[in-house]
This record gives sequence, C-alpha cells and structure tokens, in this order.
Amino acid sequence: MKVTVLGSGAWGTALAMVLLENGNDVTLWSFLEEEKAVLEQTGENPMLKGVPLPRELKLTTDMNAVKGCGAVVIATPSFAVRSTAAKLREIADPGTVLISVSKGIEKDTSLRLSEAIEQEVGDKCPVVVLSGPSHAEEVGRSIPTAVVAAADDIRHAQLVQDLFMNSRFRVYTSTDRVGTEICAALKNVIALCAGCCDGMGYGDNTKAMLMTRGLAEIARLGVALGGKQESFTGLAGVGDLIVTCCSMHSRNRRCGILIGQGKPVDEAVKEIGAVVEGYYAAANARALARKAGVEMPIAQAAYEVLYEGRDVHSVVTDLMSRSKRPEHEL
Ligand SMILES: NC(=O)c1ccc[n+]([C@@H]2O[C@H](COP(=O)([O-])OP(=O)(O)OC[C@H]3O[C@@H](n4cnc5c(N)ncnc54)[C@H](O)[C@@H]3O)[C@@H](O)[C@H]2O)c1
Repeated sequence: MKVTVLGSGAWGTALAMVLLENGNDVTLWSFLEEEKAVLEQTGENPMLKGVPLPRELKLTTDMNAVKGCGAVVIATPSFAVRSTAAKLREIADPGTVLISVSKGIEKDTSLRLSEAIEQEVGDKCPVVVLSGPSHAEEVGRSIPTAVVAAADDIRHAQLVQDLFMNSRFRVYTSTDRVGTEICAALKNVIALCAGCCDGMGYGDNTKAMLMTRGLAEIARLGVALGGKQESFTGLAGVGDLIVTCCSMHSRNRRCGILIGQGKPVDEAVKEIGAVVEGYYAAANARALARKAGVEMPIAQAAYEVLYEGRDVHSVVTDLMSRSKRPEHEL
C-alpha cells in the first residue's frame, strides 16, 4: 500500500521503517526542509542514532505526497495535529485511512487528537488511533513491541493491524478510541510525576503507588468520557504507563526527574529539547476532569507544580494526607 507518514521525528521515522519492512511504498514527510536535509545527508534520524534509514524510504516536504495513499500516519506533536490535518482536508483522497499516533489532548479545546482530526477533515476519511508501550528508540532497533489499533469501525482497526503487524511489531485491535486516547495522553502526566519521585529520591514503593493510583484516576476520567474500563488494563493503559514511568527513554519521566531534583519547570522542559507532552496534558487533564466532574488528585497536583510553581515536597504531603477511603469505589 502507498503510505505517507507526516512528521519525521523519532516516532514517525520508526513507524515508517516498520511500514517499509512490511513491503509498503512509504514516504516520510518532514515539516522543515532542514530536517529532511539532515535525514538525507546523514542517512539517519538524530533522534534514532545508529539506526540507518533504508534506501527505499522516500523523503519529502511536499504534502501532495498524501495523494493516492491508502493510509496516512499523523505523527506530529499534539500541538501540530490540527494544523496538519487541516492541510489534508483538500488533498487527501476520500477513504484514505488516517492513523493518529500522537499522544496528547488538544491544548485550547481539550479535544482528543482524533476528534481534532475529524473536525478538520470531516467524515471523508476514517480515523484510527495507534497507541501502546512503544519507545521509538526500541521500535527502530526491531525490539519486540505490541500496540493497539483503535477505531469506531473494527474493519478500519483491522486494516491498520494488517498494515503494521509483523514478527517484531504486534498489533491488537480495539473499538475503544476514547479510552485508548485518554490513556495515551494522561500517562505522560503520571510519568512526569514518577520522574519527580525519582528526582526527589523516593523509592519503588512510591512509584508503584503513583502508577496504580494514577491509572485509577485516568480510568475514572476515561470511563466518564465514554471509554471502556478494559482499555485501562490493556496495552494502551497499564502497558504504556509501565513503559513511560520506568524508562529513561521517556522524555516526560526525564523532565520530571529534573523537576524533582529542584530545577525550575521551564528550564527542565527546555533541557529535554523535544516535545514533553505531559506538560501540556496536565493542564488538559485538569480541564477535562472539571468538565466531567471527576476527581484526579495526582493530575491536579501535577498541574499545581507545573503551572502554579508549587513545591513538589508539599504536594506529596498533601496527596499522602488526603482523607481515608476504600481502594475501589463502592
Ligand atoms: N518518541 C516516541 O517513542 C513516541 C512513541 C509513541 C508516540 N509518540 C508521540 O508521537 C508524537 C511525536 O513524537 P516524536 O517522538 O516523533 O517527536 P519529535 O520531537 O521527535 O518530532 C516531532 C516532529 O514534529 C515536527 N513538527 C514540529 N512542529 C510541527 C508543526 N507545526 N507541524 C508539523 N510538524 C511539526 C518536527 O519537525 C518533528 O519532525 C508525540 O505526540 C509523541 O507523544 C512518540
């Protein structure tokens, strides 16, 4: 199949290589001419050092590459998903499957990214979400990985499964786009918090507590918004939470470590040097939680540290001092 991947960052590049390996005709689109030039000149993506780009991978900055494609992958940071989708409105052929692989919630609207894509493109193209525990650095090195393709119509999810699946990249299907996207966006907030705990010198107990209670509040929000409970214990939920909170590949966790060590938030975000989605997702989590009338104490604490300058230690004391409650809602 002819496929164009929009966004030549770490994730777009790694996925383009999987698609190419599966015999597809793949074009990787760069937002910037300079970015394409680096790929051409060095033969690798600077975010995926040591992973040579296959010769057959076509590189472009021309959005017209999406014409005639059976599928288009949108792999930009969340803040650029809508503007990228807007460009597709006129160019994409009706029926082209749009695959959203970015993780986040849209900043000003608090919409899920697939909703923003649909608003721009209309109903001429189905939208599928691909998500799960998948560091680009590992997918680029062919390390066995599993993800989930979620679509309202299972046939579209199956098409994406067929497109990407191979012996080192396993794809499951789901019909829960809402739950899958809420997991993808909000696990980055918990990863930032997990990093903070590491930076503050706390131990494994603290991180396990944070991940478990973090997942509980993500699920509470996701179900209130129409997601299915089982998605939160699946690859996009607990799977992605584990990988993001425990790995040094995670920018969100690394950013949290710097904050936990006492670095001012703006300096920590800048030092990471690439998009820290959890920073933006924390503000959106708070907005969504308020709208849905759901309690999200960890996301709220993250918001206070990231946007209101609260001290991380006092936030932990507050969380630990919350009123007594049963583990599971009765
Ligand atoms: N890196 C991973 O392991 C990974 C895994 C799964 C999902 N994701 C998600 O994929 C998305 C992209 O992540 P990444 O790691 O590839 O990021 P990255 O920082 O490596 O690359 C982002 C790319 O987006 C481009 N870009 C910047 N501004 C743009 C704009 N206004 N319009 C269009 N393109 C623009 C940049 O030029 C760059 O090529 C994020 O939402 C991330 O959460 C990343």
